[in-house]
Amino acid sequence: MVRETLCKAKEAKNDEFYTQYHDIEREVEAYLEYDPNVFQGKTVLLPCDDPEWSNFTRYFAQNFERLGLKKLISTSYAPESKKYKGGYQLTLFETESPLYDADKTKTHGKIFILDEDINGDGRFNINDLKWQYLEGDGDFRSREIRKLRDEADFIVTNPPFSLFREFLKWIVEANKKFLIIGNQNAITYKEVFPLIKDNRVWLGITMDSSNRWFQLPDNYENYHKIENGKKFAFVAGPLWYTNIEHGRRHQPLQLMTMADNLKYSKHKEIKGKTSYDHYDNYDAIEVPKVDAIPSDYGGVMGVPISFLRKYCPEQYEILGATESEGKGFSNGLWNERSQTSQALINGVRIYKRLFIRKKQ
Ligand SMILES: C[S@@+](CC[C@H](N)C(=O)[O-])C[C@H]1O[C@@H](n2cnc3c(N)ncnc32)[C@H](O)[C@@H]1O
Repeated sequence: MVRETLCKAKEAKNDEFYTQYHDIEREVEAYLEYDPNVFQGKTVLLPCDDPEWSNFTRYFAQNFERLGLKKLISTSYAPESKKYKGGYQLTLFETESPLYDADKTKTHGKIFILDEDINGDGRFNINDLKWQYLEGDGDFRSREIRKLRDEADFIVTNPPFSLFREFLKWIVEANKKFLIIGNQNAITYKEVFPLIKDNRVWLGITMDSSNRWFQLPDNYENYHKIENGKKFAFVAGPLWYTNIEHGRRHQPLQLMTMADNLKYSKHKEIKGKTSYDHYDNYDAIEVPKVDAIPSDYGGVMGVPISFLRKYCPEQYEILGATESEGKGFSNGLWNERSQTSQALINGVRIYKRLFIRKKQ
């Protein structure tokens, strides 16, 4: 019980981790490199943001013209609805506005819209954002925000950690393009893995699940560093999840043959052996490192989850995963009814694996 409460408290705090400008810029620019017109004439919704100071809002507002956007919508969640109550700070932007309402600010979300040159300076940018309080608290599940979702072409944000599954489902059911941040553990969630397997969701480009700095509300007590007066946490395992096309996922992995791997591999688990290990409980070979995938092997292979960062759907198909929740891989097939399972070699458990097979 105590553990559960602690976990919930941790999740609530993780919900208030804010993404840095350069992390957003690097990722979005990579999609533009692949298709400079990807956002041309489109409406982008940034839900789950505090638009006065969200870097998502800043990036998309500052680059509105260059991206060719039609409309930018950014919404925030009411402070009293948030799980972590202490993080809210009123900004001068709000308190000095004629729209400021001391009651509404606690219980209502806000909406910021950019779709016209309101100050008439001939440019569309951050100075043209207009705002008002939402009718409700800005919960992405509310009817009000669902309507904004339905109007949007793209949903971009770092959603609350504790609601990642629900948030992804909310996007996918509306069939929207998206770019969101989640933890790498989400890969094997039962709501996520089938989408990855079916190439409806893939990983983005610039985060590789190594730790990243996220900004914290000023009054957080647990932080890892302070820089320019701002508090930061070093967060483990963040990744971009998306369904926007990018170039990296169409670059096949350059690999050696099985014979060459066994002879020359830089990995001691492979070099000098006569063959790759075979699982006790799956008809598949164990490939402990992504760069040791044998290029000429046509059967099923178990590979580390980090394979997904290199995954090219024209080169390999994904068949299943061990330790994925609820559904599993058995008898060579992705099976709705098979149990969550571990891969074993000589009775020893092998950490999470994806099962892949070379495409013909
Ligand atoms: C991880 S933070 C990220 C904020 C911002 N997207 C960023 O990256 O800088 C997630 C935000 O979503 C808010 N949030 C939590 N539950 C929500 C809900 N049900 N609907 C909308 N926003 C929510 C949190 O309060 C928090 O401000």
